[in-house]
Amino acid sequence: MQLLLEHEHSFINGKSYQTQDMFAVLNPANQQTVKHASSVDEKGRMLALTGAKHALEQLRLVSAVQRSEVLKKWHALILSNEKMLAELMVAEQGKPLHEALGEVRYAAGFVEWFAQEAIRSYGETIPSQNTSVQLSTIKQPVGVVLGITPWNFPLAMITRKVAPAYAAGCSFILKPSEETPLSAIALAKLAVQAGMEAGAFQVLITTQPAELIEYYCQCAAIRKLTFTGSTRVGRLLLSQSATTIKRTSMELGGNAPFIVYDSANIAEAVTGLMAAKFRNAGQTCVAANRVLVEQGCMAEFISCLTTAVAALKVGDGMVAGNDLGPLIHEPAKVKVEGLISSALKQGAKIHYQGAAETGLFIAPVILTHVTPDMDIANTEIFGPVVSVITFTDEQQSLSFANGVEEGLAAYFYSQDVSQIHRVSRALEYGMIGINEGMISNPVAPFGGVKQSGLGREGAKQGLDEYLEVKYLCQKFD
Ligand code: SIN
Repeated sequence: MQLLLEHEHSFINGKSYQTQDMFAVLNPANQQTVKHASSVDEKGRMLALTGAKHALEQLRLVSAVQRSEVLKKWHALILSNEKMLAELMVAEQGKPLHEALGEVRYAAGFVEWFAQEAIRSYGETIPSQNTSVQLSTIKQPVGVVLGITPWNFPLAMITRKVAPAYAAGCSFILKPSEETPLSAIALAKLAVQAGMEAGAFQVLITTQPAELIEYYCQCAAIRKLTFTGSTRVGRLLLSQSATTIKRTSMELGGNAPFIVYDSANIAEAVTGLMAAKFRNAGQTCVAANRVLVEQGCMAEFISCLTTAVAALKVGDGMVAGNDLGPLIHEPAKVKVEGLISSALKQGAKIHYQGAAETGLFIAPVILTHVTPDMDIANTEIFGPVVSVITFTDEQQSLSFANGVEEGLAAYFYSQDVSQIHRVSRALEYGMIGINEGMISNPVAPFGGVKQSGLGREGAKQGLDEYLEVKYLCQKFD
């Protein structure tokens, strides 16, 4: 099978499905067309649904060990094509090539992990009060899954969902972002090369996402919806899924506090912040959004941070040495610039700003004198802006950190063991980096509390999201 065509199309039942409704996939670094892709029509949506239902039936005849073998082959194919996948990702998403390569390996890591977990979906026997009945549970696939993934991680957010779904025996219809459909298509073609049944993983490209989502949300045969994206869209999807009572997993927005206590190793805290803030030019849901610094270490921290930020190079992700690529599109840049202006109007100060950039590139900025009530402290920035708030004591740091609606990731730096225990327990977040700025890992549960979502991805918990527990009560004569 040809991995990439001149024009790309949805991938339905193991084949390219072409329509005349073409659109350009643009390179955010230069606004040039990477490729043209076609948007799926109503017939394509129906074919994908039929294909997914058929694949689900076929998968009932495939053992967990066989599914594990397919995932192992898919993992190997992703890695043997890593250069092509990384370059494609830079072209349609903009991140620097070294980060794109890191993401390909991160994405492959989920496939490898769930190849291992596929064979571990154990049921239980339950001691009964009555010796004439045997009680047990088995785990079975949820059914056909609809997945909706964002543009910021064009591969990893897909494998994190599709690999556990397939490991569990579910078939999957994916709607990737229309900004980054090419990586998704390449991934699906590799899955078929690895032996995945046609219809087990289909990719529908669309410029009319609302229509496609409404169609599948109303469809009772889709038993699960898994989404990574904003809290606003997550709320809408939850309400749309209510009619057919779908299982849902929601990886929604974050507003991560990054707390630096006086006892911290400041050099390590700055290194951690550079990773937690500037990965993908700040366009991650686990990005450090509010940097909370204790008064006593503020001067040392800001001086060390300024040196690190001033060394960042902004530019095309294909040029070696660049650290920050472009933002994904014009509205993203307008939003980040708007947040900087509103922070300044509300009393923040620019401590550092790199030289002005053109196109969708944006220079890194450090803002100080930020307060928790400002718009910038209550909005996911999704850009290379460090927004610094100072605090006076641990209690105030926790009240600032927890005083938002989101609860995805939080980070803190401290060398005081008692403080580490207290703060880890008190932070109302699903994931905590303690003296560590890079927490994402296929073997660990990724997910948030409060309005940052429902469910966990990766880890052993990631498989359960695609399994139903069935209780069996068997009477003996
Ligand atoms: C995200 O930003 O949506 C995911 C980041 C990660 O997996 O590390």
